[in-house]
Amino acid sequence: MSKNVNGFSKLNKLEKIDWLIANFFKNDKKAKQVLMQYWNQNEILQNLHDDFIENTLTNFYLPYGVAPNFVINGKSYTIPMVIEESSVVAAASLVAKFWSTRGGFKSNVISTTKIGQVHFMYEGDKAALENYFNSKKEQFFEVTKAITKNMRKRGGGILDIELSDKTVELDNYYQLHVSFETADSMGANFINSCLEVIAKEFEKEDIQIVMSILSNYVPECLVHAEVSCNVEDLYAENSVVLAQKFVQAIQIANAEPHRAVTHNKGIMNGVDAVVIATGNDFRAIEAGVHAFAARSGKYKSLTNASIENGIFKFWIDIPLALGTVGGLTSLHPLSKLSLQLLGNPSATALMEIIAVAGLAQNFAALRALTTAGIQKGHMKMHLTNIIKQLGASNKEKEFLIDYFENKTITHNAVVEAYDKLASAPLSHPDDE
Ligand code: MEV
Repeated sequence: MSKNVNGFSKLNKLEKIDWLIANFFKNDKKAKQVLMQYWNQNEILQNLHDDFIENTLTNFYLPYGVAPNFVINGKSYTIPMVIEESSVVAAASLVAKFWSTRGGFKSNVISTTKIGQVHFMYEGDKAALENYFNSKKEQFFEVTKAITKNMRKRGGGILDIELSDKTVELDNYYQLHVSFETADSMGANFINSCLEVIAKEFEKEDIQIVMSILSNYVPECLVHAEVSCNVEDLYAENSVVLAQKFVQAIQIANAEPHRAVTHNKGIMNGVDAVVIATGNDFRAIEAGVHAFAARSGKYKSLTNASIENGIFKFWIDIPLALGTVGGLTSLHPLSKLSLQLLGNPSATALMEIIAVAGLAQNFAALRALTTAGIQKGHMKMHLTNIIKQLGASNKEKEFLIDYFENKTITHNAVVEAYDKLASAPLSHPDDE
């Protein structure tokens, strides 16, 4: 049987599943059952999810958790997080509590400008192009008025339109570089619609429009978050040495891209989890953040730390183009609920919250890495996962957690200990 298909999108959901099962799963009923067991019984809700994308077969669950006790600019937050990695929410919760007794997190938005570009080719005289652009500039604002009307009411709109000469990078390449304020929406559709109308207005025989699209590189949509405390308040003992190690860990990330990528990945554990929970576009955020981390020409840490006059300070500057209206934010019932949980924040307030979530994750990672090592906490979570998979009772679980307190946790070791336990209930697995 051919594994290619015509008109797949015209089949209904069951027909699509049947085609898949017949072609890739040897008609295995179990595979069909796996797909269908995630269908939501609530038909309205299922239809809503079906319509998000093409060819929906089922839903893919990710855990939705919360990290309470965040204090940001003096206000208390319980932050929603969607993530599959076992340690992330636990780390966020621990760090939130830690800093809540040390003044909490401070965060502020530095800028909110977004960028879109009309990319075009032009072989003629540059001065003539500049004249033409200047003669058209006012008209660009005019022809986009219908699109920008509502946005202008909300304090947004097109900020400026510049002609940019890119011919050094690529022969005949110019662009219209357009800056936008999109208020509480992420603004992708708004920006792209404006750009396409501007491009149409600008196009003529000797100007060949190649494409019009927003940029996910948003270094002017920047948020800062920080924590600080006396160095002595940072660790139970050995604070000065450990705080220095913490700062060195960041210096290492700045010196060594291999480390910086992992360092920033840990930050994105926190950022993405909240971005997803609030229905924002995590691919856009990821692309923009990593480009920003490499803005000096070298990929570096997104966070910084200093020790000055006995004060430890730890901060992040991160570009985050987010929305709290439009897109999935109001369509997905859980995104809506997440935003409610956060007090229906403006896009700028959400930027502050998400920057804090990223900073908190990095704090947890660096504190663990420069003290007991990351595996201790990770393996503890791993242990509970294995115990769960084994179907251990609560009593057995307690026993195994206690047993592995000072032992190396491997999957085999846990299975072995559990097997021994199961054959000789609640005797110590080391007792022969
Ligand atoms: C794991 O998801 C994230 C860490 O590797 C981050 C880091 O190394 O800083 C722990």
